Parts: sequence; C-alpha cells; structure tokens
Amino acid sequence: MKVLLCGELDAAEWATWRGALSAAAPQAEWLDLRQARQDPAAVQAAVVANPAPGSLQGLPGLRLIQSLWAGVDRLLSDATLPPQVPLARMVDPAMSEAMAETASWAVLTLHRDFQVYAAQQRRGEWRVWPQRRAGEVRVLVLGQGEMGRCVGSRLAALGYPVQGWRRDGQALAPRLAQADIVINLLPLTPQTRGLLAAPFFAALPRGAAVINLGRGAHVVDADLQAALDSGHLRHAVLDVFHTEPLAAGHPWWTHPLVTVLPHAAAQTDPRTAAAVAAANLLALQEGRPLAHLVARSRGY
Ligand code: GLV
Repeated sequence: MKVLLCGELDAAEWATWRGALSAAAPQAEWLDLRQARQDPAAVQAAVVANPAPGSLQGLPGLRLIQSLWAGVDRLLSDATLPPQVPLARMVDPAMSEAMAETASWAVLTLHRDFQVYAAQQRRGEWRVWPQRRAGEVRVLVLGQGEMGRCVGSRLAALGYPVQGWRRDGQALAPRLAQADIVINLLPLTPQTRGLLAAPFFAALPRGAAVINLGRGAHVVDADLQAALDSGHLRHAVLDVFHTEPLAAGHPWWTHPLVTVLPHAAAQTDPRTAAAVAAANLLALQEGRPLAHLVARSRGY
C-alpha cells in the first residue's frame, strides 16, 4: 500500500516519522509529496501533520486521511480536502497523559500561587500567601473527549472537585459561575470559535483563572486582556494562539498575569502515535472499520 506522509514536518521530523511508521506498518510504502505526485492514482492513504492546503487534492485512489494531530481544525479549513475520503484524528493515550501532566502542572501552579512566587523571585520579594486546599479549588474542564476525561480524572485524583462540560445543550454560564479554574480542551469548530469572550469571562467568579489548551481561536484576545487587566481574572495559562509562533512583541509575552507555552502541552509522540496510525492503515487494508473518524458536519 502506498501512503503519502506530508505536512508541517522538517526533513528530520519527516525521517523520524517515516522510521516510526515503517516499523509500525512494514507493509506500507511511504511517499513524500513529490513522489506521490509522480503516480497520484497509486496513493491509497495519507498520514498528515497539518499539510499545506491543496496537498491532498488530485489523489483519486485516496481512501483514508490519518491526521497525526489530535485537532483537525486546520485540515477541515482546507476547502480542497476531498470530502468523501474518511478522515481520522489522532487519538493516542500517551498524548492524553501528556495533556493531563500539563493540566496538572497548571492547576497546581494556579492553586498554590507558584506563578506569583516565580514573579516575586524575579523581584527579590519574600512573601507568603494563604495556602488553600485542593478541595477548595473548583475546576471545570471544557470538552469531554479522550483528553478532557483523562485530564479530569487526573485532577480529581489530586483532590480537586472537577466538573466537565460538553457542548450538548448543557448551559455553560452556571458551570462557569462555580469554577475557580477553567480548562479549555474543546475542539475548534464554528460553534466553539470565540467562545472564551467577554460574557464567558464575566460568568466566572472574580479571581478565577483560565487555562487554554485547545486552540487560540477559542479566545477573543482583547476580551481576555480586559478581564485580566480589570482584575476580574487572576491569571491565564495559554498554550495556543491565533497566530503561531506567537508574534514577537505580542502583549502576552510580557503580560504579568499570563503564562505562555509554545504549543507544547501535548505533542504527538511518534513512538506511540505511529502504532495508532498503523492500526488504521491495517484496518483499511483488511476492510475493517476505521477508528477515530471525524464527523465532518460536527467538525471533530
Ligand atoms: C495539537 O494541538 C494537536 O491537535 O495534536
């Protein structure tokens, strides 16, 4: 089976992925975009990491697009993506574990004021703040997919009262009113774009904190900045941004109430994700049901 491997991968990353995928799916012949273009009809599947728009056009034999990214919003925004070809997102327990580690770090940091102590250290300031218990810090996890549920159970094990919210008709504002820390793990869809805006922040209690591990476009930056600057929100931990890399000089870099991560909360790990992709390729080859398919109408 000929499989196209393409996307935002430099030569070293392409080689790493190819090595991991070849080991996991030895029956596949891996092609780069240039090789695929030489015999487009022979390409049966594509394994992709945010490929440039248009990359998957003109491949008439394509029967599976397997994303190496968990979020497929960038893929779905490509109007040339062949509409009839099944699209699978990356669902890898190792990635959910990594997300749970990042979420645990961020919640522990905000709960115990470690970001405040880090800022105090830079000023040479010795000052101790009241110590709350985990049981006093209510956490709300937006998004109840594999990652949201893994994050929620890890935080519950650390002693936090955790609520989950999914976009299925549950009212959000009453949940926000009960949250000291809110973690966004929603997929980016037309319905969730811009959800973290002024009314969302206003619904949170004064002194709440926000952790965005979803997509930058979930947030209306000006509204978040206003909520931080007015003192309504205590802090924001942001892993994702409207434009990545975050532009030099962007206010988030130096905002005292913002912690910036370089979209590093949960990277796809070739050591485990290659096996997930390979399992779907084998299912395709053997005519078995494909896993983790995206419902295009739903957007994830
Ligand atoms: C990372 O953001 C991913 O979608 O895999």
